[in-house]
Amino acid sequence: MKRWKGRRTGLLLPLVLLLFWAYSSLAWICGQEMHARSQQQNSVSAIVGGKPANISKFPWHVGIMYHGNHLCGGSILSEWWVLSASHCFDQINNSNLEIIYGRDDLSTENMTYQKVDKLILHPKFDDWLLDNDIALLLLKTPLNLGINRIPICVSDLSDLQLWKNCWVTGWGITNVSGIKIQPTKLQKVQVDLYRSDWCGYVLPQLTKNMLCAGTQDTGKDACQGDSGGALVCNKKKNKTTWYQVGIVSWGLGCGKKNLPGVYTKVSHYLKWITKQTAKAGKPYVYEQNSACPLVLSCWAILFLYFVMFLLTW
Ligand code: ARG
Repeated sequence: MKRWKGRRTGLLLPLVLLLFWAYSSLAWICGQEMHARSQQQNSVSAIVGGKPANISKFPWHVGIMYHGNHLCGGSILSEWWVLSASHCFDQINNSNLEIIYGRDDLSTENMTYQKVDKLILHPKFDDWLLDNDIALLLLKTPLNLGINRIPICVSDLSDLQLWKNCWVTGWGITNVSGIKIQPTKLQKVQVDLYRSDWCGYVLPQLTKNMLCAGTQDTGKDACQGDSGGALVCNKKKNKTTWYQVGIVSWGLGCGKKNLPGVYTKVSHYLKWITKQTAKAGKPYVYEQNSACPLVLSCWAILFLYFVMFLLTW
């Protein structure tokens, strides 16, 4: 009896460790969505032509607020860093910038705001062509990562053919004609990445640092106010991890036929991000394949569990 009791406690300890590890690792592994049961699916026209989005499915999305008003979107790179677009911060003083995260409804009461300590705009940002439209926001205090607040992964893969299932999110305007309605509920729309030769043909001002995405149906696109938000996709070979491929940048109108939206090509800026974050004393190191360490450590823990099981037997 005593022997069995000892064996039971021997089994319990690794099991508790395993559960603790599984819970805590979910908080910082990038690009993981939560499987929320109550996702809203009403077909309200939004972002333009999109649907309401649940933050558990896009937990990296943040709202950037200026004097309490929604200015632009952004994405969580790590507990210290938010990625956004340079053009959002023209003549803006970072002491009045705040971000909200872990929420999909801007009208929620008692929202927690996080102050911005430093705003880093790309030194070669061209406000005419919108080339190098990328910015980094260093927060005053680190984000409390966890459920509904998860960093997005980035990747140096620049071949657009490797991506599928791409989505954009934002609190930007939902209609272009008549009164411009800005939603309080986060919106999402699915878009396809287009070949750069075709994009360059319809949008000759496109540079090599931009990519374009849209849909065959007119009326589905990002729009004013969505800038800075993430365009995220899955790799064709890994359907569970989300990567940020683009940053909402510009467009000629929104959702017009044969006029896709234009996004900053994130893969072109990974070295810049690494350098800037290190210089600011809060280095951001991106994972080449974030699903791998999770799987490896899972096997390591199972192995440990097995060894302890044998030892206590
Ligand atoms: N420049 C806009 C902003 O500041 C984003 C426009 C995106 N337009 C588009 N058609 N995708 O919010």
